[in-house]
Order: sequence, then structure tokens, then C-alpha cells
Amino acid sequence: MSTNIIQHNFKISREDHNRLNGHKSFVVWFTGLSGSGKSTIANNVEQKLFAKRIHTFSLDGDNIRRGLNADLGFSRKNREENLRRIAEVAKLSIESGKLVIASFISPLRKDREFLKKIIGEDDFVEIFINTPLRVCEERDVKGLYKKARAGEIKNFTGISAPYENPVNPNIEIKTEEESIKAATDRIIIYLTNKLETK
Ligand code: PPS
Repeated sequence: MSTNIIQHNFKISREDHNRLNGHKSFVVWFTGLSGSGKSTIANNVEQKLFAKRIHTFSLDGDNIRRGLNADLGFSRKNREENLRRIAEVAKLSIESGKLVIASFISPLRKDREFLKKIIGEDDFVEIFINTPLRVCEERDVKGLYKKARAGEIKNFTGISAPYENPVNPNIEIKTEEESIKAATDRIIIYLTNKLETK
């Protein structure tokens, strides 16, 4: 940590942004295996929130791993740093009044606990997209499971790197049992309630 850093207190606060936007700000964090449906559901949720005039900001592998975190791979240490930086960005974004939608595999419990600590428990909604490995592998939308099985990708989550299921997520979606529309509607009800009561 650098020394001689003195925090600057801005005149416009998170509460001011929230008042202007007409809603609270917090983070909705989607976790699950590659190909589990995180981004699809997160996208649908964002569209519905946008239609309700909620100020959202989406973070996922596409916009983070190609830019801010282009220097990071998939070792344990790199994933931890990937998620730490994302949590810091998410925290800044909630200060600016956004409802942040983050979709990352975030495979380890201890890393997700760390995220929660950075962001703040009250500002963190954890959504577990629970799709069995077998199904993700059957779908193999990006062809990555095939490559991982062939040993062409190292440290691939579910194959050669671990995924630890969340113990007590705020919402769990079993995509084998629930349609995307039903899952999206259920998430929107939960978030609308939190936006109104938080
Ligand atoms: S993590 O574990 O949270 O840091 O991963 P994340 O930033 O979400 O990046 C996951 C996407 O990267 C692609 N990819 C891999 N995933 C898992 N393991 C390995 N080794 C790997 N290499 C590349 C993959 O397309 C993931 O995208 P999603 O959207 O999850 O399918």
C-alpha cells in the first residue's frame, strides 16, 4: 500500500447520486461455471432494470479481461487479483449511484468472501447460477470444455481447476429446472424489493 495517500472527500456523495437517480445503488454478483448462463441471465436482468429506469453498469469477462485485467490469466493468484480489481471497480461504481451487475466465475468461496468484504455485505447480492458441469460441457458454447479436456487449456474451471458452490447465496437458479424468463423475473422481484427497502 502506498504511503502519504490522503483521502479526498467529494462534495457530491453516493446519497446525492442515489437521490438524483431515484434509487439505491449496490452490486448484483453472478457466480457459476463457464457456460452456466451467467451472462445471458445478467443481460436479461439488466434490460428489465433499464426499462424501469434503473441506472445499471455491467461488468463481465468481455469488458474486463480484454482491458483493465488483460495482464491476468487463470492461476489461483491471477483470478484472485482479477476479482479484487473488479470488486474495487464495482465499489467505485456504487459510489457513483449505479446498480452494478457483475458476472464472473469467481470459483472460490474465500475469494467471494473477500469480494463481499471489499464491497460491503449490505451492498452485495450473490446469485448462484447453478448449472451442472455435465450440462455446461454438453452445451460447450465456446468450445472451451473440449479444449480443456484435450489439455489445450490449463486450469480450466470444473475440469482442472476447482469451483466451490456458494453455501448461502441470496438467490440460486437451477437452469435445468427453471426457464431463463422465470429466473429473470424472480431476480427482478428480489432486486426491486431491495431497491425499495434498502
Ligand atoms: S474468474 O475465475 O472469475 O477469474 O474468471 P472470469 O474472469 O469470469 O473469466 C471467465 C471466462 O474466461 C474464459 N476462460 C476461462 N474460464 C475458466 N478457466 C479458464 N482456464 C479459462 N480460460 C478462458 C471463459 O470463456 C470464461 O467465460 P464465461 O463467460 O464464464 O464462459
